[in-house]
Amino acid sequence: YDAEQPPPVQAEILVASNRGPVTYSLGEDGELTARRGGGGLVSGLSAIGPDADALWVCSALGEGDREAVRRGVGEPGVRMLDIDADTHADAYNGISNSVLWFVHHLLYQTPLEPVFDAEFRRQWAAYETYNRAFAQALAESAAPAATVLVQDYHLCLVPGMLRELRPDLRIGHFSHTPWAPVDYFRLLPDDIAEQLLRGVLGADRAAFLTRRWADAFTQCALSVLGEEALDGKRIGVHGLGADADFLRERAHRDDVAERLTALREQVGGSGRRTIVRVDRTELSKNIVRGLLAYEHLLRTRPEWRERVVHIAFAYPSRQDLAVYREYTQEVQRVADDINATYGTPSWTPVVLHVKDDFARSLAAYRLADVALVNPIRDGMNLVAKEIPVVSDEGCALVLSREAGAYEELGEDAVVVNPYDVVGTTDALHEALSMEPGERAERTKRLAAAATALPPARWFLDQLEALRA
Ligand code: G6P
Repeated sequence: YDAEQPPPVQAEILVASNRGPVTYSLGEDGELTARRGGGGLVSGLSAIGPDADALWVCSALGEGDREAVRRGVGEPGVRMLDIDADTHADAYNGISNSVLWFVHHLLYQTPLEPVFDAEFRRQWAAYETYNRAFAQALAESAAPAATVLVQDYHLCLVPGMLRELRPDLRIGHFSHTPWAPVDYFRLLPDDIAEQLLRGVLGADRAAFLTRRWADAFTQCALSVLGEEALDGKRIGVHGLGADADFLRERAHRDDVAERLTALREQVGGSGRRTIVRVDRTELSKNIVRGLLAYEHLLRTRPEWRERVVHIAFAYPSRQDLAVYREYTQEVQRVADDINATYGTPSWTPVVLHVKDDFARSLAAYRLADVALVNPIRDGMNLVAKEIPVVSDEGCALVLSREAGAYEELGEDAVVVNPYDVVGTTDALHEALSMEPGERAERTKRLAAAATALPPARWFLDQLEALRA
């Protein structure tokens, strides 16, 4: 990272994550434009108030961010690390999103995957370098006995490295993903599995979104490292819920209303039902099987033709990687096929949008009769929690039992095995056919469960637990 930066502040609370709260884009005229992101961490951190001595350490992710660091442009309370672009690409694309993401979401497809070859080892060295840069920056920026919250699979080695540099700190690690079951985790080379676990266990406390992922981590540590490795370590669980106040206010602004009108036109027909899904286009989200289940519904239950529209927002993600690009194309191709086979001049069965638009997502949430959330695995899945909060008329939730959100919402959802396409078709039919009274009741309970752990509480609980 850039050692030329001015000496950083000595903060009492530090958060570290690959993706920070702001990204910069560089215009043709050389102008930098800042774009602020949302998400649980952003609203969680705001709970400690503007006067708290907090610092968010994150990575420069593109040319705009790098240029911002070079020019010394930034936000108060944010320190962006300009780690060498090739090192970042190997750590982020290579190890984090091609290996660790795949391990924790069970995404490998035998017989060709996984392959841990010399190229993997080269990328692993970059992952170490990348993690070390974070550990050093945190070590420099932390006040004595400060509290540090390290986020996610990009930074598994940071707690261990930081502990060596600064034994005085209280360090927590939080995983936003699932944690792999032990047999799957052990696909990784033994020394790498060991380093990852020791890295996370360098923290005083490792925390997860659900009990299931916490238990999986414990099993991995027991199996790979043995019981002693867990001595004196605390494993915690902090569920993350939807931010009800923010969502309800944001979903009723003019830009959302405009998009709602446009979407209603696209849906067409009076009384047509909608099945809504909103995801980053990414293999664990299982968008293709969702489309196949919808196709099977139209094929086997023709009474739904012309009477339902599947609104699928599939926003591009991690497009530097071929496997994510190809998946995006596959989603597009399957949606086109359905429209070609079943569409009529007055009915488009699938309305697919791939351009990221938060206001349009909220409009779709409001319009949803059925929400489809069928990931192969998911740390939590906030869409499942947000739609019941925002939907205008109440919606039925079709939910994968493999999403973290299932632990809190399972009772009032129509639950599916994400691999079972015909089962998902049946669930869609059941959800579409739900009596309005029952649907309203369930939506109310879903919304209450979904908002029980707002981001502010999620964040403050972690701080408190770490300091206890
Ligand atoms: C998941 C991860 C986050 C990540 C997000 C978006 O939710 O747990 O750490 O930021 O996906 O992915 P991206 O690669 O675009 O940051």
